[in-house]
Amino acid sequence: MLDLSPTIWALVGLFLVVYCIPSYIRAVRSPINRIPTIGPSGVFASYYGALKALWSSNEMIQEGYEKYYGGTFKIPMMDRWSVVVSGPELYDEFRRRPDDELSFHEATNETLQMEFTFGKGVKEVPYHTGTIRTPLTRNLANRFPDIQDEIAASFAEHVPAKEDEWLSLPTYDTILQIVVRTSNRLFVGLPLCRNPDFGKLNIGYTREVFKAAFILQQFPAFLRPFFAKLFTNIDTNVNRAIRHLGPMIEERLAREKQLGSEDPERPNDLISWLLDYATPGLRTVYDLTTRVLTINFAAIHTTSMTFTHILYDLASHPEYAEPLRQELATVLVGDDWSKVAMTKLRKLDSFIKESQRLSGSNALIMTRLVMKDITLSDGSVVPKGNFISIASRALHLDERIYPDPNEFQGFRFSDMRDGEGEGTKHQAVTLGSDWTTFGGGRHACPGRFFAVNEVKAMLAYVLLNYDVKLKGGERPKTTWLGPINIPNQTAHLLFRKRKQQ
Ligand code: HEM
Ligand SMILES: *[C@@H]1O[C@H](CO)[C@@H](O)[C@H](O)[C@H]1NC(C)=O
Ligand SMILES: *[C@@H]1O[C@H](CO)[C@@H](O)[C@H](O)[C@H]1NC(C)=O
Repeated sequence: MLDLSPTIWALVGLFLVVYCIPSYIRAVRSPINRIPTIGPSGVFASYYGALKALWSSNEMIQEGYEKYYGGTFKIPMMDRWSVVVSGPELYDEFRRRPDDELSFHEATNETLQMEFTFGKGVKEVPYHTGTIRTPLTRNLANRFPDIQDEIAASFAEHVPAKEDEWLSLPTYDTILQIVVRTSNRLFVGLPLCRNPDFGKLNIGYTREVFKAAFILQQFPAFLRPFFAKLFTNIDTNVNRAIRHLGPMIEERLAREKQLGSEDPERPNDLISWLLDYATPGLRTVYDLTTRVLTINFAAIHTTSMTFTHILYDLASHPEYAEPLRQELATVLVGDDWSKVAMTKLRKLDSFIKESQRLSGSNALIMTRLVMKDITLSDGSVVPKGNFISIASRALHLDERIYPDPNEFQGFRFSDMRDGEGEGTKHQAVTLGSDWTTFGGGRHACPGRFFAVNEVKAMLAYVLLNYDVKLKGGERPKTTWLGPINIPNQTAHLLFRKRKQQ
């Protein structure tokens, strides 16, 4: 037997009395118990359920959606409940609730452990969201030639396939390189967007944040500061980014002091757009650098995972290549690769959206932290402190909305659009109670117009320049990290250069 000193036993006792017993009593009495549970629901058994949810939350949420459609259910997490709502009425209600009831920022503060992963500035004044929503989106059309140019240059370098043999490439890693360059061509321009260390930093930073946040969430809050240092170090990342961005940002700040925003040579890029929105105390090299990192965090892996699924789907359904190429030939007459042309590519948009629907949907989306006890219109009382989300994947597989939901129908959405003869419904960027890939309400993804245009331009480039084939005959399988959908990140695809007609 170990000789545990009485002091340790006293501490254990104190912990039980101060921490565990009161939370047990609160848990037993809580109105949350009236919301049905998927998985074990006893106060202690639910810890097992929380562990189970780490690898099977997709199935648990699917089960809840089918049993309690139009209502509310919950699945256990380590330190709280994840409440899930389903059906169009609750979606609408959910979307309209104000931030002081259902908070996006407090939810991301928790799910991304922002204190430890991004630092305080980004968390407290998220002005970069407005920067993306308005100036970035508005400038997509006039910056589109740059985006095109970077797509061509990065494919030439990272997918150097020949006409007469198949080249095997690791799909996800290759796409990450292309997306990080293309996105940063818009954000920070040449030559930095091609700098290998800057690219590596942005790719690695996202992975580090996700990993650290996921691990930290599994610990009780009071232990997190100790463990945070093991998994992430904000300052090391920011300082590395400042080595690349510092001189450029300093020059911009200095020019602006001299010339104001009237400067005729002011570059039309993310740094200028951020400066248009940054409040006085935040116009520093350090803070602006954290914004560039944060926007890369939001943009790079989301877009790369989406595009990886799309290429896996294109390779598994080769019959779509020709009709998509025909559409491209009709719309892109000559060199007319404009953003306007992108909006005319209905079939391409539909193929992308179908891939997101069937392959790319997360099990949960629009996660919010409940800030005060609320009663939903189905009568469920959700107490403060829990998470609440929409069951996104289950919704996208609901046959009430999508007939033959498990079938990949690449032109599902363009057929719907043609049938209704309307202009803008059923697009990949359209939000609604039937389409939640980009969230909904006030915090819906402000980068979705850029993301979808970038993905369209990349897919068009692939279709026109390469043939793509599965390696091994089977579509690489998706894995799940809790409710997060992850395309196989190591599988290869085969590329061959198309003969120019
Ligand atoms: C296909 C790629 C992308 C997907 C699937 C995606 C998805 C999402 C989702 C689901 C949300 C949360 C919405 C909610 O909870 O209601 C979100 C938020 C956000 N996204 Fe995206 N996103 C993508 C690309 C991008 C890009 C390229 C950018 C930047 C240029 C971006 C910037 C943001 C930001 C800043 C937020 C936070 C919004 C806020 O604070 O209100 N995203 N995104
Ligand atoms: C954000 O998360 C941290 C740590 O988990 C917590 O201490 C803090 O109260 C949260 N909210 C705000 C507004 O910082
Ligand atoms: C991804 O695909 C590769 C190659 O097909 C396979 O060896 C690997 O086990 C897969 N990984 C996952 C996580 O499924």
